[in-house]
Amino acid sequence: MQNLHEATAYIKAQSNGFKPQVGIILGTGLGALAKEVEVECEINYADIPHFPLSTVESHAGRLLLGRLGGKNVAVLQGRFHYYEGYTMEQVVMPVRVLKLLGIGPLLVSNAAGGLNPDFNIADLMLIDDHINLQPTNPLIGPNHDELGPRFPDMFAPYDAALLAHAEAAAQDLGQASSTRHGVYVSVPGPMLETPAEYRYLRTIGADAVGMSTVPEVIAARHLGLPVLAVSVITDLCAPGHLKPVVLADIFAAAALAEPRLTALIKKVIEQL
Ligand code: HPA
Repeated sequence: MQNLHEATAYIKAQSNGFKPQVGIILGTGLGALAKEVEVECEINYADIPHFPLSTVESHAGRLLLGRLGGKNVAVLQGRFHYYEGYTMEQVVMPVRVLKLLGIGPLLVSNAAGGLNPDFNIADLMLIDDHINLQPTNPLIGPNHDELGPRFPDMFAPYDAALLAHAEAAAQDLGQASSTRHGVYVSVPGPMLETPAEYRYLRTIGADAVGMSTVPEVIAARHLGLPVLAVSVITDLCAPGHLKPVVLADIFAAAALAEPRLTALIKKVIEQL
């Protein structure tokens, strides 16, 4: 708690008390959103006391505070994955700091493999439920009552009103046919899945698989934050579509979807 308060106090001091209304985690597929933010204050993670440092090349490590879609936003440009060797507490620290800064909704993106045979490369999937297959979770250990309850409810991890906003935004933007719904399963990685594992993940009810997001969503729900999360489908993992995953192809698919995801998230923020 002390570390969270020190990080929050530093950010408040650096930004003249900027009060974000919306938090955004720029995962794969949302990098371009950073260019749309009228930045008022930019802080490197390295300068924030106790903040973890990003080790993945494709993820910058910066907090942007500014205006987007008529709202004050706090943008995490760079996220932390369990497979990098961080503890779950480190993985979710930025989400907790954003809550202490005052955000309401948290908007999250990620890249995911498509398990649902109806999905196409570069589709967007609005996450309406998840399965946590990470080996641990950020709420293990003593509960900090100041943050949230010991046993947070998970009946509706993804906010129905935000999902409805996103659905409407996709319609308005003419993206309805490439915008799907589904269940995201979070696995530790960093290796991708075997064919048998993909079949298993489909069998247990997942539509897409990735290596992030669920820890942050668990922390956000513990904090009482409403969440919207969107996957970019970067590779197809349904039987018959499987082939070796090339990282460059994943980034190419994410780049293809990026303008659509950026427009969608911006419109959702305008409608809040
Ligand atoms: N599996 C796990 N994570 C991923 C995948 C995948 O197929 N594609 C993008 N992230």
